[in-house]
Amino acid sequence: MGTHLIGDTSEVVVGRGRPRPLLPPSATRARVALLVQPGAEPVGDAVADGLDVPVERLALREGEEAKTLEAVGEVYAWLARIGLGRDDTVVVVGGGAATDAGGFIASTWGRGVEAVHVPTTLLGAVDAAIGGKTAINIGGKNLVGTFWLPRRVVVDLDVLEALPERLRREGAAEVIKAGFIAAPGVVDAYRRHGVDVPLESVVEAAVAVKTRIAASDLRERGERALLNLGHTVGHAVEFASGLSHGESVAIGMVAEAHIAAAKLGFEGVEMVVSTLERTGLPTRVDGLDRDRVMELMWRDKKRDRDGLRMVLLREVGRPEVVHVEADDVWPGLEAVGV
Ligand code: GLY
Repeated sequence: MGTHLIGDTSEVVVGRGRPRPLLPPSATRARVALLVQPGAEPVGDAVADGLDVPVERLALREGEEAKTLEAVGEVYAWLARIGLGRDDTVVVVGGGAATDAGGFIASTWGRGVEAVHVPTTLLGAVDAAIGGKTAINIGGKNLVGTFWLPRRVVVDLDVLEALPERLRREGAAEVIKAGFIAAPGVVDAYRRHGVDVPLESVVEAAVAVKTRIAASDLRERGERALLNLGHTVGHAVEFASGLSHGESVAIGMVAEAHIAAAKLGFEGVEMVVSTLERTGLPTRVDGLDRDRVMELMWRDKKRDRDGLRMVLLREVGRPEVVHVEADDVWPGLEAVGV
């Protein structure tokens, strides 16, 4: 198990258990603000026990509720009450929504304080917690955010292996996404084992893909956009349907595979569908209004002057950012039931 670096200051530690001490050394840190997602209290307790500076602790709101402006305002008010200083640290324990919101709070409190993330979901561990994208939801998912690299991300395989199947399945969508982008061995592993894949090797590989791409293009001027595979359709499906992020990304990857087949001659549509099905992820969604999904996609950050940017596979391991028009997108949506 290893340590993956993004620049000189952000490290992702993958292993069993947590490093001791949990936090990187600091001569000036006086306290830690520990933000814990509901349900992650046992990991929050263990993290608190492992800290050698005074800890103040606050429960975040559940899931995406933590990403509302109101919820973030409550945390700011609490940070003011406890007097968190600029040399102090925000430690976030929880899934992707918790690290999105907690990272945003750390990046804006005192114009930016150190953040350390302890992801407690597979999805958070291989994607959301890594690479410094923070986000809250105002008018659309993740429309407000910052780039703020966490000083350390602690990926504890023991925590991930103990997750209920539902969360291992949801996170699998992002692990498989990393596989389609640059780690074909991950795709093979899920095709063999489904959701019960041994996590050790696939997590390490997915973290390596994420850290390498984020390090090469932190602010998403180019290569980092490749990590959005499945997300252009997926975010719109998520917002319109209420399905989970992982389920929506799975559906998005299928829709975008169909679009890739038409635009780039991608020949792996059946392989994408069967890999996701083998893992128990949905590949269709019923009952959504196609115009609404289209409208949400065109409101997305991935739009620019020339249209909508979408990541399409030429083949597994060869993703490209391509401009698409509405006429390219309709058949992809139709293929997943939208
Ligand atoms: N979740 C995609 C990225 O971090 O760029």
